[in-house]
Amino acid sequence: MKSVGVAILGLGVVGGGTYKILTEHREFYRRTQNIDISVESVLELNKQRALDLGIEESKISDNIAEVVSNPNVDIVVEVIGGVEPAKSFVLAALHSGKTVVTSNKELFCKYWYELERAARRTNAGLYFEASCVGGVPIIRTLTDGMQANVVHTLTGIINGTTNYILTRMAREGLDYAAVLKDAQALGYAEKDPTADVEGFDAAYKLSILSSLAFHTKVPLDKVYREGITGISKLDIAYGEELGYVLKLLAIGKNDGAGRIEVRVHPAFIRKDHPLASVNDSFNAVFLQGDSVGEIMLYGRGAGSLPTGSAIVSDVIYAATHADHKYATFKNTQLAEKGVRFVTDFQSRYYIRFTAHDRAGVLAKVAGVFAKYNISIVDFIQKGEDFDRAEGEGEGIPVILITHTTSEFSVRRAVEKIAALDGIVQVNSVIRVEN
Ligand code: HSE
Repeated sequence: MKSVGVAILGLGVVGGGTYKILTEHREFYRRTQNIDISVESVLELNKQRALDLGIEESKISDNIAEVVSNPNVDIVVEVIGGVEPAKSFVLAALHSGKTVVTSNKELFCKYWYELERAARRTNAGLYFEASCVGGVPIIRTLTDGMQANVVHTLTGIINGTTNYILTRMAREGLDYAAVLKDAQALGYAEKDPTADVEGFDAAYKLSILSSLAFHTKVPLDKVYREGITGISKLDIAYGEELGYVLKLLAIGKNDGAGRIEVRVHPAFIRKDHPLASVNDSFNAVFLQGDSVGEIMLYGRGAGSLPTGSAIVSDVIYAATHADHKYATFKNTQLAEKGVRFVTDFQSRYYIRFTAHDRAGVLAKVAGVFAKYNISIVDFIQKGEDFDRAEGEGEGIPVILITHTTSEFSVRRAVEKIAALDGIVQVNSVIRVEN
């Protein structure tokens, strides 16, 4: 039976889960995979934390050089997060010929090309299932399960924190700020929630996933990003009246002719869309391949054991495959020449504005839409006697849904509408996805 030694860098939530899975399932992997995986070393500055997990003192280190020069270590698991010191540690492991398994989406999406170059030089493996969508095996689905297909679209709810917040706002009619506070108290949101609520976390993941799905480098700076901090409970309620649910979506589209679109932003989807019922902190990714058609993966995108599950699946994969696989595309820092990243998206739009209730105002608004060739598909206007919610000032709310139109046309039209006499303000513009 093959013996495989693992080092874990960082014994936080994911590192602890990884250790637990590896030790509790050791016998199971011996039986089912014919490999004996042992944790040979951990890099952890908080020695007590390691001791509390039952790790022998001789295996606890605070020195990366010691870990990567340990001949009993074959695979180094990096679960520290952030760019440094994780990047230096991962490079040290790869330079020593150790295979690396990481959950680090920020490091991976920014420096994948550099890590892969180092891995190829020493024939080391580089695995990153846990970097995207936690326990949901989306990376292996793309690299090993979907390789027969040209993938045209990838649509996902790939951040659990924002999905939790939006679900509770919708369910309980609460404001963003109130739910965020509660989510922080319950441990669903970080003390500094910026990476999640501003869409950075989802953008890191979309950069990685769309590179794999479309077989070309999708650099982070090509991902359009908007978070959920400006979302009002009123929009969620009006959207619901029109048959929609609001989600933070990560969307990747590939027209097969060199045009790629990658964006992370809040979007309304119809209540009967498969992603509409993905609630709380769950994640899901919906893929369309030219041969398989539509598939959807659903599960936990974060957490100690779900993310540990992804890490351990990579450890087993690396240990049971003689040849390591690398990116199917030219893995450079920048996008490949010839790929065009679309910024003038085609979408439908939900637009909410507040207007004075007098003759001619809506006619002027309609004139602006006509000028920009924007056609309206659905419409709500409340009378003066409507049940005014907290936060709704003077004027009456008007809500429109457009037919598919261009992002730039909508932006220009909205600017003009905001400046019209009789318009108090344009409150929100939210994309509506089919
Ligand atoms: N913070 C992420 C989320 C989990 O809320 O989904 C790790 O990527």
